[in-house]
Amino acid sequence: MPLMEWNERLSVGIQQFDAEHKRLVGMVNELFDAVQAGRGKDVLGKILDGLIDYTKTHFANEERYMVQHAYPDYKAHKAEHDALAKQVLDVQAKYRSGATAALSMEVMNFLKNWLVKHIMGIDKKYTPYLNQRGVK
Ligand SMILES: [Fe+2]
Repeated sequence: MPLMEWNERLSVGIQQFDAEHKRLVGMVNELFDAVQAGRGKDVLGKILDGLIDYTKTHFANEERYMVQHAYPDYKAHKAEHDALAKQVLDVQAKYRSGATAALSMEVMNFLKNWLVKHIMGIDKKYTPYLNQRGVK
């Protein structure tokens, strides 16, 4: 069973970002599956790196649209992206240094909540503003 599922409640009403969020959910699930299957540190490390890379790409895409359309809450949103990126980089650093031998359920739940809270919270706030400016 996947750790999490994308559903309409997670929709931000913008096709590209929904697609990117779905991919992030898929990547968290892929990592979870690999953890469950007891895959080695190298495999897990690579999946985690991929998730982080794609997160950066996604955040940059959202930020580009916000800047382009002069979104008034851009600064706060960008600050949340930066904080989230830092948190996940900390997880990566701990994992790489061997401080965490395994990606625990705690880490998996952290990633899941990190994504859901961000999407349901601050992401959904840009929907009306961007929709009104033709971003759908
Ligand atoms: Fe965001």
